Amino acid sequence: MSSVFRLAHLTDVHLGPLPRPRPGELFSKRITGFLSWQLRRRRIHRTDVLDATLAALASARPDHTVVTGDLCNISLPGEFVAARDWLLRLGPPARVTAIPGNHDAYVPGAAEAHWPLWRPWMEGAGAPRDFPFVRRVGPLALLGLSSAVPRPWGDAAGELGCAQLERLAVRLAELRRSGLCRVVLVHHPPVPGWSPPRKCLLDAAALGAVLAREGAELVLCGHDHRLASGALPGPSGPIPVLAGPSASLAAAEPEKRGGGLLLAIRRADSGAGWRIEAEAWRFDPALARMAHEAVPMPPSVVAALA
Ligand SMILES: [Fe+2]
Ligand SMILES: [Fe+2]
Repeated sequence: MSSVFRLAHLTDVHLGPLPRPRPGELFSKRITGFLSWQLRRRRIHRTDVLDATLAALASARPDHTVVTGDLCNISLPGEFVAARDWLLRLGPPARVTAIPGNHDAYVPGAAEAHWPLWRPWMEGAGAPRDFPFVRRVGPLALLGLSSAVPRPWGDAAGELGCAQLERLAVRLAELRRSGLCRVVLVHHPPVPGWSPPRKCLLDAAALGAVLAREGAELVLCGHDHRLASGALPGPSGPIPVLAGPSASLAAAEPEKRGGGLLLAIRRADSGAGWRIEAEAWRFDPALARMAHEAVPMPPSVVAALA
């Protein structure tokens, strides 16, 4: 049996507490986000849940960890510094890869001003034009996308744009012959119907067309704050898509419970393709601790491997 690579997946960290805004920093969409945080979100994105998630991650001893965005809440400058410090505690850049989410580009100019702080975890990417980045990690090629764009009030949609999609297609095609397991990281789920219109990936169909033509072995996303598994068509079989739960969310609804994913990735015994198994650890409010569970891969993916 081939060796196993253990990849941890965290998403939607929504670090708290919020730094105190300086005068003028709330004269934007940030004011409603700030009120939403104070009135509701700070009570459900909890430090104790995030700490439990990180403790479970540490005991799982992954080979690498990916974080698929929404480290911030309203893109205050101090949030990016806090997120940089949190990434440092999570692990050295060689062991941790991050991409941004919509809360990391909450207002115009935030990306250009503050993403450079996270460059070491984004393979040097420090602006929207730098995506996708490609990072080789063990037997994996991580392709980090940015769907994070500033949107109007009440709108949490994402967009990759034609130029980024064209660059992604080129990189996927180059990597197809490398024998590496291509793992696409994108904050907004690309599966039609997973997200409501005001939260969806606007060019999901175009991303689906690139993946259908060039292929990928796995897509990891977040944004909806709920655990989900599905698939998109690929050139030689279905491509599994996993959405992780928020790393900090305390939720009563079972599908929304916060936590993280651990993936065991190995070459298929046949030598062609990859076998991927997923496990979730999520915070059970009744037990006040993490509970482990297997995440079923979509039947179409299992059938394609059989
Ligand atoms: Fe989020
Ligand atoms: Fe999000």
